[in-house]
Amino acid sequence: MTLLQEIEAALGSAFAKVVGEPVETPVVPSGDLRFGDYQSNAAMALAKQRRTNPRALAQEVIDTVDLGDLATAEIAGPGFINFRVSPSCFARKAAEQIADPRLGVPTTGEGRKIVIDFSAPNVAKPMHVGHIRSTILGDSLARIAGFLGYDVIRDNHIGDWGTQFGMILHGWKTILDQDQLESDPVAELLRVYREVNALAKQDPAVLETCKGELVKLQGGDPENLQIWERCVELSKKGLQKIYDRLDVSFDHWLGESFYNERLPGLVDEFLDKGLARESDGAVCVFSSGELSDDKDPFRIHKENGWTDNPAIIRKADGGFLYATTDLATVEYRIDEWKADEIWYVVGAPQQLHFRQIFDASHRWGKDADFHHIAFGSILGEDRKLMKTRSGDNVQLVDVLDEAIERAAQAIREKNPELDGEEGREVAEIVGIGAVKFAELSQHRLTDYVFSWDRMLALQGDTAPYLQYSYVRIRSIFRKLDGAFDPAGVDLLLEADEEVHLARLAIRYGELLPTILEDHRPNLLANYLLELARAFHSFFEACPVLKAEEISVRDSRLALCELTSRVLSHGLGLLGIRCPERM
Ligand code: ARG
Repeated sequence: MTLLQEIEAALGSAFAKVVGEPVETPVVPSGDLRFGDYQSNAAMALAKQRRTNPRALAQEVIDTVDLGDLATAEIAGPGFINFRVSPSCFARKAAEQIADPRLGVPTTGEGRKIVIDFSAPNVAKPMHVGHIRSTILGDSLARIAGFLGYDVIRDNHIGDWGTQFGMILHGWKTILDQDQLESDPVAELLRVYREVNALAKQDPAVLETCKGELVKLQGGDPENLQIWERCVELSKKGLQKIYDRLDVSFDHWLGESFYNERLPGLVDEFLDKGLARESDGAVCVFSSGELSDDKDPFRIHKENGWTDNPAIIRKADGGFLYATTDLATVEYRIDEWKADEIWYVVGAPQQLHFRQIFDASHRWGKDADFHHIAFGSILGEDRKLMKTRSGDNVQLVDVLDEAIERAAQAIREKNPELDGEEGREVAEIVGIGAVKFAELSQHRLTDYVFSWDRMLALQGDTAPYLQYSYVRIRSIFRKLDGAFDPAGVDLLLEADEEVHLARLAIRYGELLPTILEDHRPNLLANYLLELARAFHSFFEACPVLKAEEISVRDSRLALCELTSRVLSHGLGLLGIRCPERM
């Protein structure tokens, strides 16, 4: 049990005694340590329901509650109950955490299956920094949910059946450079796509040819199908290289094309069940009429008031759409995988699309806990959407290369002894960690400014700062003669800095489950920064290796060990590794 749960349980039984029946008595960490470590407003909520005096009720509960050595309770303000945890209790919980391979983190997700749809770039188009947010956020959420015991399926729903293939097929047949395709397929496919795209803009005849190629592909033309297959395969290989560098993996790559065969039947079923109807030759899903206009994704406000905003699932020409594929995908994930929850880590502009999909799936009887985990944009230092100098979208590979190059330079300046193979590896860990942390430490919905200097700063809210804190702690242990085993060490928490470090360390298990309430890894990122800062204050105030007494030294070493474990484990859940030296 976490400390919070222990306090909650004690409070719960006190309330039950006082009011004569079991009641909800939530406890939260207090925002301000002056008011104690934890806080509950249960007395206020309950007094309101029962029309009694909240302070009197709180006082009665405080007189009844048996907190043992956990904490002391006192009343505050209109009826808050504040808990101040004793150092001996922190010491006990920290020792338990050291002995626990799960570092005190409960398994809150057992028996629930979540499909996480993230990354999902489009084939033969570059994976740009917009996709980086989905990839990094999705990977971290998958790691956190997995550690909490959820059964997680990571699915890369790549865009491998879009209209871009008209351009690519035409380009493949006219301007493809075979040698380039061999040496750098992703770059060559991109060049082909871009050139044809430019040509088609100038010359309507080229555009028509491209459309013709696309129709042939959709009609099952063997030559075009074969080229398409090659393109997809080459693109996947290229993508895999990036995922390897990012240390991101998937259980499945069921892209859009996987669902092609299911689409005609799906549209028929929607028509049969009255979930969709024809409108101007197209098949559309309309409002259920059950929601008020402002909550209904199938209604939209225009100058003349509210009007229909249907989702087209089959065009008048017989073609299927993004929405059709997404409905088929929902069905597959629920029927085949038995998903309890489906999370879509996709940018905010697709919000309406997902609201429509969720609503239509629900009416269809394909129900799961759906979440669109939206995010904002990445801005350049000029606060405009991040672009290269030539105005193109910035490519993810280039970002990674530059991050590693800059990290290598910083490391060379700081620690010239780190060279060769180890130096390169550390630069990779630090550079990629910096990019990931810059993403994950922001609230996902804010647009954030991409700043190399800020994300690589050793003294700042950065991955390198956390990695350096970890390295610093490990170096303490290297100075020690012989191994140190923290198991069974008595923790003596005397200085405020020691108490505070333990207070934060044990909070790890309370924090992790709350991250999934709103899918916000930035809560973990910020917690780790706070923990590292607490470590540095502790390290300044409390000598470790030079401690006067061996019992004090061992207690402090155990705190160091615990801190480094939580730091590296927490960073691991953000998908960030720790070097041993830097
Ligand atoms: N390929 C899409 C894009 O780049 C994202 C797909 C997201 N997933 C989904 N099931 N719609 O915009």
